[in-house]
Amino acid sequence: MRAPLFIAELGAKAMAAVDAETAHHLTIRLLKSGRGPKVRIKNPRLASNVAGLYFPNPLGLAAGFDKNAEAPDAILEMGFGFAEVGAVTPRPQPGNEKPRVFRLRADAAVINRYGFNNDGLEIIADRLRSRPKTGIVGVNLGANKDSEDRAQDYVTGVKALGGFVDFFTVNISSPNTPGLRALQDKAALSELMTQVLTARDETAEGTPVFLKIAPDLTDEDKADIAALAKAMALDGLIISNTTIARPTTLRSAAAQEAGGLSGKPLFAPSTALLREFFAALGPGIPLVGVGGVSSARDTYEKILAGAALVQLYTALIYEGPGLPLRVLKELPGYLDADGFENIAEAVGAAHA
Ligand SMILES: Cc1cc2nc3c(=O)[nH]c(=O)nc-3n(C[C@H](O)[C@H](O)[C@H](O)COP(=O)(O)O)c2cc1C
Repeated sequence: MRAPLFIAELGAKAMAAVDAETAHHLTIRLLKSGRGPKVRIKNPRLASNVAGLYFPNPLGLAAGFDKNAEAPDAILEMGFGFAEVGAVTPRPQPGNEKPRVFRLRADAAVINRYGFNNDGLEIIADRLRSRPKTGIVGVNLGANKDSEDRAQDYVTGVKALGGFVDFFTVNISSPNTPGLRALQDKAALSELMTQVLTARDETAEGTPVFLKIAPDLTDEDKADIAALAKAMALDGLIISNTTIARPTTLRSAAAQEAGGLSGKPLFAPSTALLREFFAALGPGIPLVGVGGVSSARDTYEKILAGAALVQLYTALIYEGPGLPLRVLKELPGYLDADGFENIAEAVGAAHA
């Protein structure tokens, strides 16, 4: 385990010297070649069943890192309990013009406006069909920028990938496809989720469908989404995507670039939103907490706020590929300190 981890950590330092998108490509290539970290920690206290699936640990890789499903099993080997690939759109598309991803190093943050660049469903379905299936992999579904029927794009995604993935995420919260977030409005969302769940029942019965929401919702949006999640008995909510807000505390030169902000500045607002949804929904609808997680402490805080599962992305850029291992090693200590036997007992405990 030590040697590959060391090589990968060295790689992380070299990555900091190139632009963010190139570093991203190099990282995927490294993982694809089998030279990523290989973590073998299995602790039954960290395992849990969520939405009918068995997760060996609660820490997952968030969407947007492996957009084209090139290395999901290498990602699981890094220690992640699950991976979410995508976003995938029905047809391949190039995304926005470069540069489109910016490091905000002083803020431990990133701004991206990739705009769903991806290889499209056909190629990605082939990759997912032929993978060795070493653990839980879900797919983040998006809509093509020039689509005339965006709801249909999500249905197409479910139909094409049903049977090859462990869960679907309906991503209507990316800020980088103009108009996409309007699908979070009450009537549009209800129609969309009805179509998606029908497609799921027809082609991939039993595969959970999660809905990923933005952190920039009005109180009315939040109430509508919570009501819909209850009424439709959604399998789970992922809270949250990147934010279009720009906290005044940001210090980096790139802070005013257009796009979605992720990383440390997103931790507090996304955790507050998670807490709000847990308070509204209770433990019946699983919540996945994502936004600014960079340590075991952050992971635990999301769990206490109501997350049954946690995801991260941006912190990998700054902390390196050894981060999942560190989280897995330290998490049991937090359970011990509060007298919890396992993760499931701690979910939402901050509300008690
Ligand atoms: C470069 C980049 C690309 C992303 N692409 C997607 C995407 O395609 N679909 C999606 O739902 N979220 C995407 N996200 C959002 C992440 O999945 C996550 O919700 C967000 O970054 C907050 O987590 P973090 O602070 O740990 O990065 C992307 C984030 C980044 C930084």
